Amino acid sequence: MFSSVMGTSIMKRAQEKGLLEFKAHDLRDWTHDFHKTTDDAPYGGGPGQLMKVEPVFEAMDDLLADEPATIIFPTPTGEPFTQEIAEELSHENRLLFVCGHYEGFDERVYTLADRCISLGDFVLTGGELAAMVITDAVCRLIPGVLGDDQSAQDESFADGLLEYPQYTRPATYRGMEVPPILLSGDHAKVDAWRRKMAIEKTARLRPDMLDTAKLSEEERAWALSIVEEVARSEESSVEDPITGTPDARA
Ligand code: ADE
Repeated sequence: MFSSVMGTSIMKRAQEKGLLEFKAHDLRDWTHDFHKTTDDAPYGGGPGQLMKVEPVFEAMDDLLADEPATIIFPTPTGEPFTQEIAEELSHENRLLFVCGHYEGFDERVYTLADRCISLGDFVLTGGELAAMVITDAVCRLIPGVLGDDQSAQDESFADGLLEYPQYTRPATYRGMEVPPILLSGDHAKVDAWRRKMAIEKTARLRPDMLDTAKLSEEERAWALSIVEEVARSEESSVEDPITGTPDARA
């Protein structure tokens, strides 16, 4: 499961360049019974199985013996994953993800956690995919992993804004034109346009991000005027649920 993701594209090249190293471990290697059991029924009854406590502690004893690591539990009960957390983790030397299955871990296992991280309000079948998603977001922030260092900086979330729209050739496709300013060769104007579009896109699609986005007073006032305009146009398109006609309040 891990080798297909870690062995492809940018994560593969990052390892080949010696910028990072991945290793997957199997918890069954720290079991002692014939069937290599890692789960058991919950005390108190109820459906499903729980991951046992001993294999995880014993695995940690071994895996942390020579080198410390930041221990991360991917779990829907964790803190919501953000670009800021990815940034923080990219400065750590070693990350160790503990991936649970079934209904979760015996609660005592979480005393090992430095961080519990959630990808969102949904439940995956296991922590592995979440660990890979987090790893992907973190590893692209490590200097040298992306070809062009600029690309990790300009993009969505870096300054608290969504990324501006981008285009490549052809200039016209099926009647859709690339904004002429991008063809003008005037870099100052292109930069100003991109900034404006990033603010407008954020105001329209993710107004919640404006609270923390890095904006000048003038930019903030403009962004808020867009949010108000969107709210007004949504209000005027609210239909009466019975007649289907525009709501009288509009
Ligand atoms: N494991 C199962 N569901 C998860 C989620 N939403 N986020 C992180 N880890 C998980």
